[in-house]
Amino acid sequence: MSRQILLGVTGSIAAYRACDVARELMHRGYTVRVVMTHSATRLIAPATFEALTGHPVVADVFDEPERGQIAHIRLAQDSDLVLIAPATAHTIARLALGLADDMLTTICLATRAPILIAPAMNPAMWTHPATQSHVRTLQERGVQFIDPTYGIMACGDEGWGKIADTPTIVEAVIARLSQSESLKGVRVLITAGPTYEPIDPVRFIGNRSSGKMGYAVAEAARQRGAEVTLISGPTALPDPFGVQVIRVQTAQQMYEAVLEHFESCAIFIATAAVADYRPEVALPRKRKRGSRAWTLRLVPNPDILGAVAQRKGNRLVVGFAAETDKVLEHAREKLQRKNLDLLAVNDVLEPGSGFEVDTNRLTLLYADGRVEALPQMSKRACADALMEQVAAMYQAASKAV
Ligand code: CTP
Repeated sequence: MSRQILLGVTGSIAAYRACDVARELMHRGYTVRVVMTHSATRLIAPATFEALTGHPVVADVFDEPERGQIAHIRLAQDSDLVLIAPATAHTIARLALGLADDMLTTICLATRAPILIAPAMNPAMWTHPATQSHVRTLQERGVQFIDPTYGIMACGDEGWGKIADTPTIVEAVIARLSQSESLKGVRVLITAGPTYEPIDPVRFIGNRSSGKMGYAVAEAARQRGAEVTLISGPTALPDPFGVQVIRVQTAQQMYEAVLEHFESCAIFIATAAVADYRPEVALPRKRKRGSRAWTLRLVPNPDILGAVAQRKGNRLVVGFAAETDKVLEHAREKLQRKNLDLLAVNDVLEPGSGFEVDTNRLTLLYADGRVEALPQMSKRACADALMEQVAAMYQAASKAV
């Protein structure tokens, strides 16, 4: 069955360009289903798209072209990719807010397919801080933008805001669809978040990890078609969609959960900030305040990554390292000592990198000695860049077998 692309058309003067995009996608063998906003239907007739695609166009939430089927759920589930071209500032804002006030936004909320957006608007609207902040919000959720180009607008203004040209849009769709298959059915095991090592029933030793990086990696792996198991320490984050989440508290529990799932995985990615030490005894009752000093004896926790990587077989094993000094030197040593294929390292003392923030700056070290410094990006974008490399390494290794 051919892959289905849901083409969202919104009320920009560039709406006519969606006809070209639909035609080009169909030439490449995709099924195209069109959903229009009401403003779009005032600029171009739905009948045009119906004739082009051979399918009914839906515009109203109550449009039910196929009897007995709920259109917005059906279209959301059956589509392999959602492309909104052109996308207005209004639709981008509604998507960022998670509104479901027409057919297109309802489908976007209901779908788990990748979403690509090709904006088209006046340059002042595109560069407005409100629009740019909505764009960043959507990018952090994994939505991909096909940047508008520079030129003279229909209104006569000149600047950034013209919809990208058709070949660029079509290429972006094809690239995203092939990416969403790059780890299809591959089992990926990920650890994330901190661990809490109990001192007594109310106190613990923990660390400042939020789990954001590991959850972003889990999402990026799932979006590439992987079957993801995420073993997470305590975090405030919701379970990523479509990912099996196993919640644990301590390093020992995380270790046991990893051992249980390691055998069946093909890729293991350790992003967790595992506590290296735990109190030798966890007191059964709360320790009361006293006037004397309190000495806690700490004993080492297992090195989860180090232990499983020693018997990795042909699995791909990826580690993370948070360093504060001699970053590359320590990272190189860690990569070798832990028998890793890839190590993503960040300097946690650098602003915008490391714990609790939404951004990170990773340097990737490969077992073959290659080093790749990535720019500072959102954790979600870092996760995508990392998974791109992991998928390429996985595919190269599978071909070599
Ligand atoms: N790691 C692990 N189990 C541990 C400690 C670390 O699985 N007990 C994993 C982390 O998830 C990370 C990698 O090992 O992928 C490196 O973690 P890091 O804390 O930087 O390394 P350590 O071995 O703890 O070395 P050090 O703290 O001395 O830098």
